[in-house]
Amino acid sequence: MMKMNPLLFCLLMLFLCFFICKSQLPIPAKIDGFVYRKPSVWGESVLVEAFLDPVCPGSRDSWPALKQALDYYSGRLSLVVHPFPTSYHSNAFIGCRSLHIANKLNSSSVYPLLELFFKTQEQYYDAPTYEMSRASIVADMTKLALTAVGENFRTAFQLGFNDSSTVEATKISFKYGCSRGVGGPPVFFVNGMPLSNPGSPLDYNQWRSTIDPLLAKNKS
Ligand SMILES: *[C@@H]1O[C@H](CO)[C@@H](O)[C@H](O)[C@H]1NC(C)=O
Ligand SMILES: *[C@@H]1O[C@H](CO)[C@@H](O)[C@H](O)[C@H]1NC(C)=O
Repeated sequence: MMKMNPLLFCLLMLFLCFFICKSQLPIPAKIDGFVYRKPSVWGESVLVEAFLDPVCPGSRDSWPALKQALDYYSGRLSLVVHPFPTSYHSNAFIGCRSLHIANKLNSSSVYPLLELFFKTQEQYYDAPTYEMSRASIVADMTKLALTAVGENFRTAFQLGFNDSSTVEATKISFKYGCSRGVGGPPVFFVNGMPLSNPGSPLDYNQWRSTIDPLLAKNKS
């Protein structure tokens, strides 16, 4: 094999990087994410952005403590959840797509549906669905989703799975996460900054010790 000149190698890498960095990610008309609580006034509340996967155990485990913190801080803590379809959970994309369809049909059902996923996600893990067809997983998730979205939306929800715009929305979610360096959820950003230990849930005390000082500084 020919040995490559190190200088040539560096030039080649720069050249590749130029093309990779140059490609523009698709810009969505509306910023990605499901708003749990809107930031009231810019700068007066702390904003948490959470990248969560409905069929990922770590995301599920992180939710109760985050919810407890949301209750505690009330209007001083805002939350936006970005669904993140982890590539190594086979049903994550369908789960995230369900959330986008729910958001489109009845936006107040998104969080109830996310919680339903967290409660029942084990049935969507890779092993128990190994022999299931994609169609039956979609049918199963539709059934689950309708209990949150509303039975009246049955046909609309099924059509949502045939609607390419819901694939686009889910792809945007994925690319949005990638653009912020999200690899495996749960990943949290506080006022725009990533928390260390991505991929592991925070407990309530960790939320308190992260957010208390910020709110105290905000006041002074
Ligand atoms: C929308 O979802 C919420 C939350 O699950 C539910 O209470 C409400 O009944 C749904 N709306 C309709 C029209 O079904
Ligand atoms: C969705 O598309 C599939 C395959 O393209 C089709 O079999 C199915 O009937 C469609 N569903 C609805 C609700 O239109």
